[in-house]
Amino acid sequence: MDIATLMETGEQCLMRTNARLPLALCRGEGSWVWDTDGKRYLDFVTGLAVTSLGHAHPELVRVIREQAGLMLHSSNLYWNEPQVRLARALTEHSFAERAFFCNSGAEANEGAIKLARKHAKQHYGSHKTKIISLRGSFHGRTLAALTATGQEKYRRGFEPLPADFAYAERDDVAALEEILDENTAAFFLEPVLGEGGVFPLSKEFMLAARNICTKKGILLVFDEIQTGMGRSGYLFAHETYGVTPDVMTLAKALANGIPVGALLAGGSAAETFAPGDHASTFGGNLLAAAVANRVVEIMTEEGFLPAVRAKSAWFAAELGKLARAAGIDGEVRGLGFMLGLPVGERGARVTESCRRRGLLLNCIGGETLRFLPPLTVSETELAAALDILAQALAEA
Ligand SMILES: Cc1ncc(COP(=O)(O)O)c(C=O)c1O
Repeated sequence: MDIATLMETGEQCLMRTNARLPLALCRGEGSWVWDTDGKRYLDFVTGLAVTSLGHAHPELVRVIREQAGLMLHSSNLYWNEPQVRLARALTEHSFAERAFFCNSGAEANEGAIKLARKHAKQHYGSHKTKIISLRGSFHGRTLAALTATGQEKYRRGFEPLPADFAYAERDDVAALEEILDENTAAFFLEPVLGEGGVFPLSKEFMLAARNICTKKGILLVFDEIQTGMGRSGYLFAHETYGVTPDVMTLAKALANGIPVGALLAGGSAAETFAPGDHASTFGGNLLAAAVANRVVEIMTEEGFLPAVRAKSAWFAAELGKLARAAGIDGEVRGLGFMLGLPVGERGARVTESCRRRGLLLNCIGGETLRFLPPLTVSETELAAALDILAQALAEA
């Protein structure tokens, strides 16, 4: 199907949930993707922080082929070895003691909300039901995750929403002391707000969140769906803060594009669910778990994460120089390879110009360019992206 026919047919038969660009991607290799007309692009979107090991990674292709020939899915009525191995790998590499697997970020957060409410009831009584999250946060589109999402534009029209959710201001420690009260079951945060504009939280706020939650018997939940799996230059972004949560959610890059989500918990939180409390048909199936295992192995190989830190530090510094040369006031924000550059109202024009020149970027709110390259990107590819961006900024 040519792109015009594809768009026309899609407009007729797909629900209008997304405003899509006039582009269909059909093939990828490493940091590069090709559209249906054969044009090649550098992929600095990575399916929104999903294909972090690049496209068609030979090791992942091998694991997918091998696992597909054995078994894709059994059921959580039974044990499956890839799932147990994945739970062991994630618990060995984090604070967590137990894992639950599902299929998406929203589903992982739904699980975390259920876990928090049940944990609070078990340990403190039925008054402790409130879920606090940050204004500007994004936690997913299912009803409870949507309610935790601190952006009204996503929630509008879907009322009535689940009860007992409220929002705190990012980096306001004094206000956090007030809002996290004795009725609060959990405090959810993204260490770097992603969809909200790439805003890393301050260390002071992260430490205060940990202290208040511990003092008041509140579960601290880190949504590392976007920041996790090496994106920050560490396996999990909270490692850069030296602050450990009670619960963490993962998805996106965990299986490099095969849908999977994870809910991880430590301490008493890990003991909350009993058989029958929670489940997911596809959750942790053999294919998703086998691929995720290989992703974790690759990302924790010696030298992988230090290389991400070195490449991303160089890229952020170069991006800053380029922005100053282009007369941009705003600073580069973010951690590792999760970077944002505020460019004002010309954001959409710059993104479009980059696309024409062969670089895919995402723009948040029409104003912040978001850079999410594969963690495996080469220095030559980073330099090529900077060249294209400089041309696009000059044009816009
Ligand atoms: C921080 C964060 N949490 C949750 C989600 C929702 O994940 P999913 O789209 O897999 O449901 C996203 C998606 O962008 C996200 O960035």
